[in-house]
Amino acid sequence: MRGKTVVVTGATSGIGEVAAIRLAQEGARIVFTARDRTRAGATLQKLHKAGDADHAFHLADLSLLAEMKRVAADIAREPAIDVLINNAGALFNRRGETADGLERTFALNHMSYFVITNILLPNLKPGARIVSTSSGAHRRGILDFGDLQSRHGYRGFPVYAKSKLCNVLFTRELARRIAGGGITANCLHPGFVATRFGDDSGGLVSWGVRLAKAFTGLSVEEGAKTLVYLASSPDAADVSGGYFQDCRIDMPSEAARDDADAGKLWQVSAEISGVGR
Ligand SMILES: NC(=O)c1ccc[n+]([C@@H]2O[C@H](COP(=O)([O-])OP(=O)(O)OC[C@H]3O[C@@H](n4cnc5c(N)ncnc54)[C@H](OP(=O)(O)O)[C@@H]3O)[C@@H](O)[C@H]2O)c1
Repeated sequence: MRGKTVVVTGATSGIGEVAAIRLAQEGARIVFTARDRTRAGATLQKLHKAGDADHAFHLADLSLLAEMKRVAADIAREPAIDVLINNAGALFNRRGETADGLERTFALNHMSYFVITNILLPNLKPGARIVSTSSGAHRRGILDFGDLQSRHGYRGFPVYAKSKLCNVLFTRELARRIAGGGITANCLHPGFVATRFGDDSGGLVSWGVRLAKAFTGLSVEEGAKTLVYLASSPDAADVSGGYFQDCRIDMPSEAARDDADAGKLWQVSAEISGVGR
């Protein structure tokens, strides 16, 4: 990875941080987003220990459209990008709306991937890879275009599952749109991993996730493997539109293979954000 620039969202914790460190050890230069300067500084220190490239970070709250756009425009000033890893995400026990009037899980977990990717696409080098962290939870996701903002009967896990279904559909449509251009787009399930995921979700969800992580969670190292594989392995260089788990291509749910929904989600996301048209 020496000489390559890797952009990572959500690299201040969990699988995003470990993947960034592994790629830095392989020689990559890491440019990451963070929402907190202190946490960003801590990650930057780890990256400098891992590799001697000129690593950098950009601050942004990725649940806000204006911040997604600003940070992507800032990153677009960097030299050409070899890998874009869309990874920042969360599960919220209670419904919340962003200043844009978007449900916050949808905003952070889906719209940030959509907006940042579309703004950075012209800056991706030939041969570049776009890797998006989805989840096996997508199998429980139901995409109702009549209630994309989950105004009715909000429950944290189903809404999270819907956002992760959006990640697979987004990857599918993106791969179709960029096919033949020398850039690939894939997504993955990292496994159930003992990161900080769920700790700030609130309510019973946090307790449930904490308990499950303590007993069945993979180590963060293990959880970062498929992310690192898709970002750097020669074996993954020519695959596009795939859903991966354990460094192998896997079949996503039937809902995640619906081309009409993938196209419609793209269209709606472009209307919401004003990018990707
Ligand atoms: N852990 C699992 O079992 C699991 C399973 C399947 C999929 N995933 C997916 O894996 C990805 C990474 O999660 P993780 O498990 O590594 O969890 P994590 O340790 O909580 O890391 C999440 C990252 O996203 C960042 N982030 C959260 N909200 C943000 C916001 N509003 N603006 C900017 N950045 C924000 C966090 O920043 P801070 O450091 O500031 O909090 C952190 O860097 C997510 O997309 C998640 O859905 C996780």
